[in-house]
Amino acid sequence: MARMTGKVALVSGGAQGIGAAVVRRFVEEGASVLVGDVSFRGGELLGHGGAVHAVRLDVTSPEDWASAVRTAVEKFGGLDVLVNNAGVSHIAPVAEHPVEEWERVLAINLTGPFHGIQAVVPALRARGGGSVVNIASTAALRGFRGAPGYTASKFGLRGLTRSAALDLATDHIRVNAVLPGFTRTPATEAIRADPALIALGRTADPAEIAASVLHLASDEASFVTGAEYVVDGGETT
Ligand SMILES: NC(=O)c1ccc[n+]([C@@H]2O[C@H](COP(=O)([O-])OP(=O)(O)OC[C@H]3O[C@@H](n4cnc5c(N)ncnc54)[C@H](O)[C@@H]3O)[C@@H](O)[C@H]2O)c1
Repeated sequence: MARMTGKVALVSGGAQGIGAAVVRRFVEEGASVLVGDVSFRGGELLGHGGAVHAVRLDVTSPEDWASAVRTAVEKFGGLDVLVNNAGVSHIAPVAEHPVEEWERVLAINLTGPFHGIQAVVPALRARGGGSVVNIASTAALRGFRGAPGYTASKFGLRGLTRSAALDLATDHIRVNAVLPGFTRTPATEAIRADPALIALGRTADPAEIAASVLHLASDEASFVTGAEYVVDGGETT
């Protein structure tokens, strides 16, 4: 039997990159998926038929989250899984980092997942439990030059993951984080990675991140909560 049969998932920022790979993998494994994003320009989601439905979701808006959850329940009958994947970065050293960009990065990468968790909890409780997977980064483990806002947001997301895992455990809602290393997506197209810094000698394909998200989202990970899966080819090892 497929690993996500009968499950309904909401994936933020699922129109491209890692999010789109997660959507693809979930559908292959039998899930129905609601994709929430602010832009669907890339067309990466075409060809999934009725198993995928797309809505406009700005993760900084609690109203958009409430509407997305309502749509998931109306269209697919409930909700079991949330993947907090939407994320942005701004590159500037700390002394020159505009405060507006600091606030935007934190609003999308950290407060966004907080809103998402608050929005889905009633629907997950109604199903008797569920799984939340937060997409953090290796920037949640160490500093990166020129990315103070991004790094702070991803360190913060680890804290949110752990506290939410404790708060929601009695509801049978598991909350975990995946920490990807350098992954080839539209966001990283223009960045040159040095393969010598990665033990496996190469960057990741989004499908390799999606594989860990799938595991944490599915019942295979029924005893895993508050965990951090580092999927970085050995970069931080
Ligand atoms: N690519 C990497 O190397 C890498 C490494 C570590 C972590 N990550 C994390 O993985 C996640 C996905 O990254 P990616 O590389 O696929 O990025 P991407 O830019 O290719 O895709 C991100 C998606 O999020 C959407 N998005 C942006 N702001 C949004 C908002 N306010 N509300 C809803 N959706 C919004 C974008 O429209 C886009 O579709 C991010 O959280 C990122 O920080 C990426």
